[in-house]
Amino acid sequence: MAEKKLETSLVNAGRSPKFTQGAVNPIIQRTSSVIFDSVAAKRHATQNRGKSELFYGRRGTQTHFSFQAAMAELEGGAGCSLYPSGAAAVSNAILAFAAAGDHILLTGSTYDPTQSFCDKILSRMNITTEYFDPMIGEEIAELIKPNTKVVFLESPGSITMEVQDIPAIVRAVRRVNPEIVIMIDNTWAAGVLFKALEFGIDISIQSGTKYIIGHSDAMLGIAVANERCWAQLRENSYLMGQIADADTVYMASRGLRTLAIRLKQHEKSSLEIARWLQQRTEVAAVYHPALPSCPGHKNFIRDFSGSNGLFSFQLKEQLTPQQFTDYLDNFHHFKMAFSWGGFESLILGYQPEEIKIMRQYDISQRTTPQRTGTLFRLHVGLENVQDLIDDLTEGFKRISVD
Ligand SMILES: Cc1ncc(COP(=O)(O)O)c(C=O)c1O
Repeated sequence: MAEKKLETSLVNAGRSPKFTQGAVNPIIQRTSSVIFDSVAAKRHATQNRGKSELFYGRRGTQTHFSFQAAMAELEGGAGCSLYPSGAAAVSNAILAFAAAGDHILLTGSTYDPTQSFCDKILSRMNITTEYFDPMIGEEIAELIKPNTKVVFLESPGSITMEVQDIPAIVRAVRRVNPEIVIMIDNTWAAGVLFKALEFGIDISIQSGTKYIIGHSDAMLGIAVANERCWAQLRENSYLMGQIADADTVYMASRGLRTLAIRLKQHEKSSLEIARWLQQRTEVAAVYHPALPSCPGHKNFIRDFSGSNGLFSFQLKEQLTPQQFTDYLDNFHHFKMAFSWGGFESLILGYQPEEIKIMRQYDISQRTTPQRTGTLFRLHVGLENVQDLIDDLTEGFKRISVD
């Protein structure tokens, strides 16, 4: 039979009869303890713990095994670890591989709390973090040291949206030291629009809180590893006590079924709004990976199968504090909130000095041209696009000087 397309895989993944027991969806199995009928059964479970067999709640139940099998299939991995949040997935994936004395290379446009984890927690363990320009490409080879253990990518970058040249980075890292563990925060791609493991990355991490859960009502972290890294990721995460509850994992399974169609609608609406923003005289640039004005757009076209609702745009001018609050405080549809990936539209604003603090590299170096205006990150939800454009039009009126 021909290879399944993404939409079909998302509908079917993790729905084997073992997990559904004859229903359409996997069962929700809540438990802490697993009861063994005999010493032999306990011995068997102990020997097979970590192999999707019931052992103890913290090792997961059929609800977890179903979703883990689905994610491993979708991302082409050997296994999948689950965490109570995306941030826990990031920190535990790094902790599973880095040890005292190691050096980590971290993309300078990673999600802010990932940077803080490295700066505040890893530093206490004598693990040093060095940031690099997201557009570095092959030149990353020059930053690799004998003690470099992990290279951590995130593409597109948080807020500034740079799309990295991942094949060039992976090639360079493997050439210098094939043992280095390469990880990516693959949240923007929901693990499916960019097939990280097929590009030679060892671990694809994402906040399932975003598009997989898709309704802004639960939090989940997901890390899918290749054969080389799976056992170490699984055991270290287990020893750190990492697990998500069965109800949340069930919601993630349910989210998979509509993920493809939701992503397509987010993409369609966000591109319509991004193109509209490009025509506005107030706007200097729109950083939507699917548009040429986004740094690394060529990498996006080559490596991704689609986009979504999350992008940024930068004004020509820096807004005054009064304009900044007038603009953000008065939207009807674009709510001000962290996170993204749900059905609703969101907005966050950043003044240039805030962007500078979050970016651990010289923006002007490779990401041309440098711009100094106020930046907004939008998550375009599933509302009617004209309603959203009307909302944004009103916003521009609020900051108009005439
Ligand atoms: C790119 C990225 N990675 C990780 C996270 C953290 O995920 P969570 O909120 O599930 O901890 C976020 C949250 O906004 C994110 O945007």
